[in-house]
Amino acid sequence: MQIITTPVALDQALAAEREAQKTIGLVPTMGALHAGHASLVSRSVSENDVTVVSVFVNPTQFNDKRDLDSYPRNLEADCALLESLGADIVFAPTVEAAYPEPDTRQFSYPPIDTVMEGGKRPGHFNGVCQIVSKLFLWTRPDRAYFGEKDFQQIAVIRAMVADQGFQLELRPCPIVREESGLAMSSRNALLTADERKTATNIYATLQASKDFAKEHTVAETHDFVVSTLNAINGLEVEYYEIVDGITLQPISDWQETADVVGCITVYCGVRPVRLIDNIRYKG
Ligand code: PAF
Repeated sequence: MQIITTPVALDQALAAEREAQKTIGLVPTMGALHAGHASLVSRSVSENDVTVVSVFVNPTQFNDKRDLDSYPRNLEADCALLESLGADIVFAPTVEAAYPEPDTRQFSYPPIDTVMEGGKRPGHFNGVCQIVSKLFLWTRPDRAYFGEKDFQQIAVIRAMVADQGFQLELRPCPIVREESGLAMSSRNALLTADERKTATNIYATLQASKDFAKEHTVAETHDFVVSTLNAINGLEVEYYEIVDGITLQPISDWQETADVVGCITVYCGVRPVRLIDNIRYKG
């Protein structure tokens, strides 16, 4: 496994692979890898000749400097895991290598990128599109792998791929959960043992809401999730939206669309740690 830190070196490393018509899979990550990332990497390794995993905490997608500073980083452990999974290249640029000049490009895909995370984290998806488009340009992958925990991110990247004409297949991969049901996330590392237990209520409540939804309206189901979680000490819901899985617009009736997803962001603990999750009601 090679560890590469500049776009030029990445291009050189991939030139021979492209020449030999090898397929390239890209797994973009911000490091602090866990079993969720491992599932993306394993899928890429099984579907491509060459797997590139990028490890880069992208500053342009953080609208809160404290969040950026506290984001967990552990390149050594990440590389050990990636080697064991059969990744071929780890691309871990410095901020200067990734952004030799400030990136002034603006990516805007309303209404997909204006709701939920887009509303709560202004500029977040623009930053995601800036770095992901650079990674696509540098790697020119045949397939790119993203976890469905970041449900809205996949929708925004799909819009960006269509808009920019990238010739690649997006491969959304299912959420990987801890035994407790907590969605795997690099941010879980910031939770204390007690907070981790408290955080398991998020998925438990989302799951319970699927039964609740059978006998209740969208608005009642929304309120059930928010009030159940807010009643638990140490949890505070930032938003819960029940949306059309394609347009990401809130729905008001279960019959409105065939694809319905509930997307949630919850603050957990004293720090607090911002956790996201989602559940499919239909589709
Ligand atoms: O999902 C993430 O970890 C990041 O948003 C991504 C896609 C690697 C871009 O920095």
